[in-house]
Amino acid sequence: MIKIGSQKIDTNIFLAPLAGCADLSFRLVARELGARFCFYEMVDSNALLYQKEPRRDILKTHPKDHPIAAQLLGSEPERMLEAAKRLLSLVTPEFLDINAACPAKKVLKKRCGAYFLKEPSNLYKIIEKLSANLTLPITVKLRIGYNLFDPDHIISIAKNCQKSGAAALFVHGRTMKQRYSGKVNYEAIKAVKDNTTIPVFGSGDILSQELAQKMFDQTGCDGILVARGAMGNPWFFCNKKPSIKERLDTLNRHLSYLEKYKETRATAKLGLMKKAVMWYLKEFANAHEFRNRINGCKSIEEIRACVSKII
Ligand SMILES: Cc1cc2nc3c(=O)[nH]c(=O)nc-3n(C[C@H](O)[C@H](O)[C@H](O)COP(=O)(O)O)c2cc1C
Repeated sequence: MIKIGSQKIDTNIFLAPLAGCADLSFRLVARELGARFCFYEMVDSNALLYQKEPRRDILKTHPKDHPIAAQLLGSEPERMLEAAKRLLSLVTPEFLDINAACPAKKVLKKRCGAYFLKEPSNLYKIIEKLSANLTLPITVKLRIGYNLFDPDHIISIAKNCQKSGAAALFVHGRTMKQRYSGKVNYEAIKAVKDNTTIPVFGSGDILSQELAQKMFDQTGCDGILVARGAMGNPWFFCNKKPSIKERLDTLNRHLSYLEKYKETRATAKLGLMKKAVMWYLKEFANAHEFRNRINGCKSIEEIRACVSKII
C-alpha cells in the first residue's frame, strides 16, 4: 500500500504513462494479468481546451479500468488549471500528474514536458495553482536533468516541486538528451529520494523482476513504473512466463479490445494493431518472417489470418 496525498493505493508497481501505447486495450490486458494501477495516456492541455474534437479515446475507460491516474502536458498555469477542470469533468483519476519528462521536440518548443528541467519556474506555478484549486493530489513526472545530470539541480527541482505541493514524484533516471537509451542513473533517483519526504517512484529499464529489484535496492524508491517492460509482456505484473498458447490468446484479446474500443480512423487502428502484434512477436523464433507479413496487411481480417499462422 502506498499513500499519494489523500489517496491510498494498494500497489507500488504502476503501469507507466505511455503515449500512443497504454490505451484502454493495453490497460485492460495488463490488468487481467495483474496490473493494479495504470495511467491514461498523456493528455495535451491545449488539445483538451482548444481542439474542436480532442481525441476522445485517450480518456476512454471501462469499469474494470480502475484505479487510474491522468497526466497533463502544458506550460501555462492558468490554462493547465482550466484543462485539469475539463479533464476532471470527463474522468475521475486518483491523482493528476504533470508531465515534466517528455523529450519530443514539438513539446520542448512549447516550453513544457522535459523543458521544465531547464526552466522550472512555470512548473512550480502549475503545481501550486493545481494543488490550491483542485482536491485531488498533484504529482510530477521528471527526468534527472536536461542535457546532463547535476545533483544540485535535480535536487533543487525535486525539493521545489514538493514545496509547491506535489504529492509524489515519478523520476525517469535518464536526461532529456538521453531520451530512451543509455544507462539509467540510479544515483540520481536516490538523490531525489534522499532529499524529499513525498513518495518517489523510479522509472527506467524496469525490464525484468531483477531490474525492478535493482531499482528498489539502489535508489530506496517507494515504487516503480513499468513501461517498455510491459509492452507485449503484460505477464510482467504476475511474474509468469506464458506458454506460446497464452501469448497468442492474449495477443488476440488485445487485438479484439483495439477493434472494439479504439475510436480512430480505420488506418490508424490498423497501425495500432500492427504495432501490438510486433510487441508480442518479439518472443517468437520466427518473428522476422512474420514482421514483414504483418506490415503488408491491409485489413483487420488479414492481420488476424496472419496471427493465426504464428507458432
Ligand atoms: C512509447 C513511449 C511513450 C511514453 N509516453 C510517456 C508519456 O506520455 N508520459 C510520460 O511521463 N512518460 C512517457 N514515457 C516514458 C515512460 O513512462 C518511462 O518513464 C520510460 O520509458 C522509462 O522506462 P523504461 O526504460 O522502463 O521503458 C513513454 C515511453 C515510451 C517508450
